[in-house]
Amino acid sequence: MRYKEDSTPSLSGTSMKVLHVAAECFPLVKTGGLADVVGSLPRAQRRIGIDARVALPGYRGLSRRLEFTRTVASFDLQGFQLSVTEGMLNSVEGPEQRLPVYLFECPELYDRAGDPYRDAEGNEHPDNALRFGCFAEAVARFALHRGDGFSPALVHLHDWQAAPAAAWLSTQPQRPAVVTTIHNLAYQGLFDYRTFQQLGFPERWWSPQAMEFWGRCSFLKAGIQFSDAITTVSPGYAREIRTPEYGCGLDGNLRARAADLHGILNGIDTAVWDPQTDPFIAAHYTAGDVVIGKSANKSALQEELGLAVSARPLVAFIGRLADQKGADLILAAREELLRLDAQYVVLATGDRALQEAFAAFAEAAPTDQVAIRLLHDEVLAHKILAAADLLLIPSRFEPCGLNQLYAQRYGTIPVVRSTGGLNDTVVDADTAALAAGRATGVHFRDADVGGVLYGVRRGLELIADEATRDHLRQAGMASDFSWLRSAGDYRNLYRSLQETRPRGPLAAD
Ligand code: GLC
Repeated sequence: MRYKEDSTPSLSGTSMKVLHVAAECFPLVKTGGLADVVGSLPRAQRRIGIDARVALPGYRGLSRRLEFTRTVASFDLQGFQLSVTEGMLNSVEGPEQRLPVYLFECPELYDRAGDPYRDAEGNEHPDNALRFGCFAEAVARFALHRGDGFSPALVHLHDWQAAPAAAWLSTQPQRPAVVTTIHNLAYQGLFDYRTFQQLGFPERWWSPQAMEFWGRCSFLKAGIQFSDAITTVSPGYAREIRTPEYGCGLDGNLRARAADLHGILNGIDTAVWDPQTDPFIAAHYTAGDVVIGKSANKSALQEELGLAVSARPLVAFIGRLADQKGADLILAAREELLRLDAQYVVLATGDRALQEAFAAFAEAAPTDQVAIRLLHDEVLAHKILAAADLLLIPSRFEPCGLNQLYAQRYGTIPVVRSTGGLNDTVVDADTAALAAGRATGVHFRDADVGGVLYGVRRGLELIADEATRDHLRQAGMASDFSWLRSAGDYRNLYRSLQETRPRGPLAAD
């Protein structure tokens, strides 16, 4: 049986066909929030009648995790042959929520140990420009190809790894509409001129109006300059990236395209992140029994991690060890943090130097007060969100951030630096918000030791009062972070492009 025959009727025939293109998609391959979005947005779109599908590089072992696989196309480019495997990705929610996926396979480029960007030792693959350049070019060809595949009306590119497809598509008069979503402007895919030439980009794209960026080639800039619309993952970040402070050198280009730049808040997969059914946590709970539920999860986690089993407040950090996330500020504040009446748990991986510094912190700190796990562990992340009282997010910038959304759903109170999507999704417990019953967490202003200490102290002070703690938990758990609203926003954007988009190359070409 081929899946096409048993797909639900609302998705067949006239529904809008959209191809999402990305380097990651949960649960197939994940290093960060990008994967969660690419794993959940297309499913939410399918629920509202859009035929959304996903294109990914065919990393090692992925095709075995799909069902009903078959080869639907192949392309020769840059001396490589890429073949496209179509298959279905199962969902925890049953067969109606299966997602069609296209794997762009080429063993020399993608069948490797490690994660999408690094080898098993943590070193970046030296040929990432070629790997993602070929992927993006092949996706553009696939989107135009009228064979036994899928002809999208709209191609939705995510981040730098997919963005060159916008440039390739722009040269085609009969092309689909193109949207590029910026999940993080700090990662642009910057390469030298030689690489630009090797990838076969036309010479005219070596221009500040196209892909040239201060003497280098920027993959992401292709998405900004050549797409019909650009989105980013929160309204706050959409404003910030038009300023020199947050614009990573592209603020001028983004200001020039301000009319086509939209901030659409990420949603979360509420089936994967649900304390009522989460298979990874020790005790299930709802808003009605959150106090008992969280304390059971806390004892279980304390035991598992070797922390003292006690009612002491538990403060957590989960995230990448990168400058963006401000984990270094936790290290810088560690002595003062240890003096507070709290336990700490850190689940993080990333920069080698930071990883070593956290390992040293773990060595020196009392093991019954501090637990540090330097790895990517999805199951442990669920357990921590169910167990912790506060989730500290000291980001220097944050396009959206998903952990504060997961935290609120699990009754864990976020303590966040007020920036980007954190600002948009956590309501600070100031007097007015507390009085109105709207407060869900704590904001702090400065990305420094003082800011972090202020935030953690304020969080501890608030939860020391049970009524205030319960208010913050309840308001967080009652917030709706599902994709329902944002999936509609994307649909409206898609429709506006279908109606008004001029056929043919953009002015930038
Ligand atoms: C990136 C951003 C993060 C965002 C995620 C998904 O990881 O850093 O803020 O939530 O992408 O859009």
